[in-house]
Amino acid sequence: MRDDVKELSFPDSGLKVWRCDTEAAVDMAAADLAEEVIRSKPAGKAGPVLGVATGSTPEGLYAELVRRHREQGLSFANVTSFNLDEYLGLYPGHDQSYRYFMVHQLFMHVDIKYENTFVPSGLEWNMEKHVQEYEELIRAKGGIDLQVLGIGGNAHIGFNEPGSAKDSRTRVVALEESTREANSRFFDNDISKVPTHAISMGVATVLEAKKVILMAKGEGKADAVAKSVKGPATPHVPASLLQGHPDCIFILDPGAASLLE
Ligand code: F6R
Repeated sequence: MRDDVKELSFPDSGLKVWRCDTEAAVDMAAADLAEEVIRSKPAGKAGPVLGVATGSTPEGLYAELVRRHREQGLSFANVTSFNLDEYLGLYPGHDQSYRYFMVHQLFMHVDIKYENTFVPSGLEWNMEKHVQEYEELIRAKGGIDLQVLGIGGNAHIGFNEPGSAKDSRTRVVALEESTREANSRFFDNDISKVPTHAISMGVATVLEAKKVILMAKGEGKADAVAKSVKGPATPHVPASLLQGHPDCIFILDPGAASLLE
C-alpha cells in the first residue's frame, strides 16, 4: 500500500475502501493496480482484459499509464479493452463520443492494437444483436480482469442509472436528467446537445469482472459514495450493488471520502 493511501474499514459492505491523500494519489493507486494486471499476463498467453470508463475521473489514471508506457516500458501490446458505455447516436469521430475519448486519452499514446479495443457502437441498426454480441465478445476474450469505474452523483456506474437491476446486461438505457445536466459541461453547457440515451454494460456485466476499482474524486461524489458503502445494497443506488463483489476497491480522494469518516 502506498504511503499516501489509507484503508478504511467497512466490513459489512465487503468492499475495500481506500482514502487517498490527494487526487494524484487516486490516479497512482489505480495505475498500480492496472499495471499489476497488465504485467501479470505476459505476451504469448491470453492477454489481460481491461474494462475502461470515460469521464473526468479516470483521465489522470490514463495519463499515468501513458507515462509508464513511455518511461517504464509498460506495454499494452497484449491488452484488450472494453468500454463501459457509449452515447447513442454519436459517431465514433464525434469529439464527445467515448471512442474518441479513449483514442485521445489512451489508445493513441500506447502500443495497444486498435483491433483489440472495443467500445459499444452508438450507431447500430440492430441494437439487440449488437449488445448481445458485446457480451459474447467479453466472454470470448476470457472476461474482464480489471474493471475501472467512476461514479455518478446519483451513484450510477457505467450508465446504470438508479433502478438498474443487479442482473442487468449490456443494453440501451435512458439517461437521467441529472446525468445529462452533469455531462452538459462537455457539450457547450447545452443540455439539449447531450444524447438522451446510451448503451451501457449492465450491473451483472460489471459484477463479473474479476477485480473492480471505483475511482471517485471531489465532494460532489461524497453522498453517492457514502450511500454505496454504508447503505443497503439496492438498485436505487447502483454502486451499492458492488457490495456483493469479492474483489472491489473504492479509491477515493478526501472530498469523495468526506462523508465516510
Ligand atoms: C463513463 C461512465 C460514467 C462516469 C460517471 C462519472 O464511462 O460510465 O459512469 O464514470 O458519470 O463521471 P465523471 O468522472 O466525469 O465525474
